[in-house]
Amino acid sequence: MVTIRRFESVDWPHVWSILEPVFRAGETYAFSPDISEAEAHNVWVDRPKTTYVAVDGEDTLLGTYYIKPNQPQLGAHVCNCGYVVGAAARGQGIATLMCAHSQQAAKQLGFRAMQFNLVVATNKAAIHLWQKLGFSTIGTLPGAFNHPQQGFTNALVMFKELTDH
Ligand SMILES: CC(C)(COP(=O)(O)OP(=O)(O)OC[C@H]1O[C@@H](n2cnc3c(N)ncnc32)[C@H](O)[C@@H]1OP(=O)(O)O)[C@@H](O)C(=O)NCCC(=O)NCCS
Repeated sequence: MVTIRRFESVDWPHVWSILEPVFRAGETYAFSPDISEAEAHNVWVDRPKTTYVAVDGEDTLLGTYYIKPNQPQLGAHVCNCGYVVGAAARGQGIATLMCAHSQQAAKQLGFRAMQFNLVVATNKAAIHLWQKLGFSTIGTLPGAFNHPQQGFTNALVMFKELTDH
């Protein structure tokens, strides 16, 4: 059974082993493919408000996500999240679980909406998933992502309100 719990510092080597191939590939997140482990820790753990991990029944790490405010003060009621699932665990609903969990966690933290700033247009699994979970595409940023193979590639801004008004 997959459960989602708060990140603990002992999880970092496992989280990094999931993040590193994704960041090195440079196909889905804008971080430098040469990002250091310390910088990755900074962006995934230190700067966000909270970081979570998805684990199986033996506490083996399958995926991770963070929540942080998307903007400073006057835009800080909208959160931003990043999600990564380990390559071997994909296609089993783990990101679906993490995103549903993150929406509940975000509400509890007082956020009113969730925004994804740069969903790369080639990332079909992510776009399908966020649409399925109720995110609207606000617009397309032409050539906003410098994909290592495809070059300047469109990216979507996706948004979901978390309040019932
Ligand atoms: C995107 C990502 C988080 C999805 O994780 P996951 O645990 O495999 O996702 P799930 O199993 O919950 O759901 C995947 C969905 O995408 C669908 N999918 C997979 N590949 C697809 C493709 N090429 N085109 C369209 N849909 C696709 C699956 O069928 C599934 O949809 P369904 O539930 O309707 O069948 C994972 O692939 C990942 O970590 N990628 C690298 C980092 C990344 O892109 N993060 C998101 C940045 S916006």
